Amino acid sequence: MEDISLHILDVAENGIKAGADLVKITVEENTQTDRLVVTIEDNGRGMDADFLARVLDPFVTTRTTRKVGLGLSLFQQSAQEAGGDLTIASTPGVGTTVTAFMSYRHIDRKPMGNMVETMLTLIEGNPDCDFVYTHISNDKRYVLDTREIRCELEEIPMNHPEVTGLIRDNLVSGLQGFSAE
Ligand SMILES: Nc1ncnc2c1ncn2[C@@H]1O[C@H](COP(=O)(O)OP(=O)(O)O)[C@@H](O)[C@H]1O
Ligand SMILES: [Mg+2]
Repeated sequence: MEDISLHILDVAENGIKAGADLVKITVEENTQTDRLVVTIEDNGRGMDADFLARVLDPFVTTRTTRKVGLGLSLFQQSAQEAGGDLTIASTPGVGTTVTAFMSYRHIDRKPMGNMVETMLTLIEGNPDCDFVYTHISNDKRYVLDTREIRCELEEIPMNHPEVTGLIRDNLVSGLQGFSAE
């Protein structure tokens, strides 16, 4: 995985596969404390304690097409290479929160990548799921909450090209000056 936005896409998709209809993604960059923290929270089916204890093992997956589950362990590896780690909290029937933290300026920290494309891929591919994307960069803050957009849409699907066009514009202008640009 080349950049953090692709790890975020992968982990958010885990939540959607687990039946979530709300996924909250938060990226917090703080150059003062030299921390980059990413959290992905979903309200999907969750994992029991036994599965959770093994889920960062790259050989654990519930997929049938491939025996190796890699998404979470690859993100953990990226975080560890950048002086951090990845933790998972999960409650069956409630949901899952994945937290990855890194040293912001670590030489091996992956670039943020393109969060505009990550969010649009999630929204276009999962029009019935809501997303709250919060990006904090020192004293700047950007929030995209598709629940607010959905209220205005009535019968129009979230992935209608005119809607995703407006979401794209909002992301691009809102993230100006952020590393996710
Ligand atoms: N947010 C989640 N909610 C419920 N189960 C999850 C979640 N994330 C991961 N899992 C479980 O952990 C397994 C491993 O996930 P992952 O490392 O991303 O590999 P993969 O998605 O390729 O299986 C998944 O197959 C799934 O069973
Ligand atoms: Mg996965």
